[in-house]
Amino acid sequence: MKTIFRFFLIIIISGYPTVSCVPDVTTGEIADGGMVVTAHPEASSIGVEVLQKGGNAVDAAVAVEFALAVCYPRAGNIGGGGFVVYRNSNGAVDAIDYREMAPANAHRDMFLDEDGEVIENLSINSHKASGVPGTVAGMAELHGRYGSMPFHTLVEPAIKLALHGFPVTENQASAFNSNRERFLEVNAVPPAFVKDTPWTEGDTLVQTELAHTLQLIAEKGRDGFYKGEVADYIIKEMERGGGIITHDDLENYRPVWRKPVTGKYRDYRVISMSPPSSGGIALLQLLGKVEPYPLSEWGHNTVRTTHLMAEAERRVYADRSEHLGDPDFYPVPVEQLIDRDYLLERMSSFSMDAATPSEDVSPGEIAYRESEETTHYSIVDSERNAVAGTVTLNRSFGNFVVVPGAGFIMNNEMDDFSIKPGYPNMFGLIGGEANAIEPRKRMLSSMTPTILEKDGDLFMVVGTPGGSTIITSVFQTVLNVLEHKMGMQEAVNAPRWHHQWLPDVISAEPDAFKPGVREELEIIGHRFSERLSIGRVDAILVLPDGRLEGGADPRGDDTARGYNVPDPL
Ligand code: GLY
Repeated sequence: MKTIFRFFLIIIISGYPTVSCVPDVTTGEIADGGMVVTAHPEASSIGVEVLQKGGNAVDAAVAVEFALAVCYPRAGNIGGGGFVVYRNSNGAVDAIDYREMAPANAHRDMFLDEDGEVIENLSINSHKASGVPGTVAGMAELHGRYGSMPFHTLVEPAIKLALHGFPVTENQASAFNSNRERFLEVNAVPPAFVKDTPWTEGDTLVQTELAHTLQLIAEKGRDGFYKGEVADYIIKEMERGGGIITHDDLENYRPVWRKPVTGKYRDYRVISMSPPSSGGIALLQLLGKVEPYPLSEWGHNTVRTTHLMAEAERRVYADRSEHLGDPDFYPVPVEQLIDRDYLLERMSSFSMDAATPSEDVSPGEIAYRESEETTHYSIVDSERNAVAGTVTLNRSFGNFVVVPGAGFIMNNEMDDFSIKPGYPNMFGLIGGEANAIEPRKRMLSSMTPTILEKDGDLFMVVGTPGGSTIITSVFQTVLNVLEHKMGMQEAVNAPRWHHQWLPDVISAEPDAFKPGVREELEIIGHRFSERLSIGRVDAILVLPDGRLEGGADPRGDDTARGYNVPDPL
């Protein structure tokens, strides 16, 4: 009961956008040159301008990440971390993990009192909640391997955006207004997001201190952030607020190149993020479990399709709770988890006639927590190099700590660790030893930046924010295109639902099912809860004629911007 309560509480407080039904726009932006889809129109415009100037998908990704840190401060960041999955036009794939790390002084029980009880909210609302940020190091490293334009030219658009400001959207005005008190409570100096009169759509947000920080990063690369003035600002604020990040932690932060996880679904190759994100493995498990069934024939969100997918989801999230964590600290059995025979064996208890109660799938004993607020971007350039990037501060606006002098928000990613065995998660997710806190360890993520190939060619780039719902939102979007023959925008628009083993409930957007479907699913044992909005998928599809269709999620301010190759004179 307590778990269910926390689950709904967080949905209410997360400030998630409230668009519950999508506009009647079923074809997205179409272009033959390149395409950038992000959570904010300013970031999408900056990304596509880089492509038009001859930059490649990675150049655009770097510019987009820094732009999102300015124009989408609830999740875009330089004080957090993320993952990028990359596919070169020649088919080579790669992935970079710039997930935050636990500081060296972190320890397993750091969020517990002397009686071993969880100190309510310490892992969310405190300076201790911050992991060592990875974004700047990640972008410098990614650019070093695959970028083609000078690094500083890719940071410059974000500097201008911070210095001159940009018009906030209605969603942003409302988020700044509703979080005003929290920003004032946490920070000794009121940050740029606080003003004397309420924000309204179109007001200009100027971030002078952030512009200065970005200028240092443009000039010095990663050293502009992890050393010198900005590092000093971070440590000073950590000391003021009781945080544990040190200069050594900053200097020692390193992103890690990872081999993406890959697998097949029918004629498609799926390339996604490996641990410490659970996203790629979970997505491959889900696809492997439903592949033997004729989903296309059964139809979208029908009784049979939903029942099968929900049963696959409950089994996958049970596995996730036990086996996933930072591979540098815990031997994650990647190959076994996505092995075809193993997946079929896990579905052997599946019955078409009845839901399997989650308590019969696997016992849950250890909890971890995870937030909804993250952001994803998808980019394809004229050569058909592709980037899927998902980044986060964890909760919306992280821990609300805006580093004085440096003007950026710190993450509260420590909360993605399992902070205590048996502690109920705010989303009811269950975790294990694999995700316990250890110094310099990376916390488990659900982020699922994903690229699909068909016949050896690029086919789709996809991802979303949404905490535990990231995995199922990507799963549904992929099936919408592959099985239900939707275009990219239509697949993104389509209503979503989510099952994650515990709590044993399908949470669904209001219009997720046709009349009668939910009632029939209830008869065979499924339970439901309603959610206004699940995920914000930003994706790109390569159309049969080679053009690109961008799908930008109408649940947020997400925007697709493409450009056409000019006709030869
Ligand atoms: N903080 C959300 C995630 O990493 O999945």
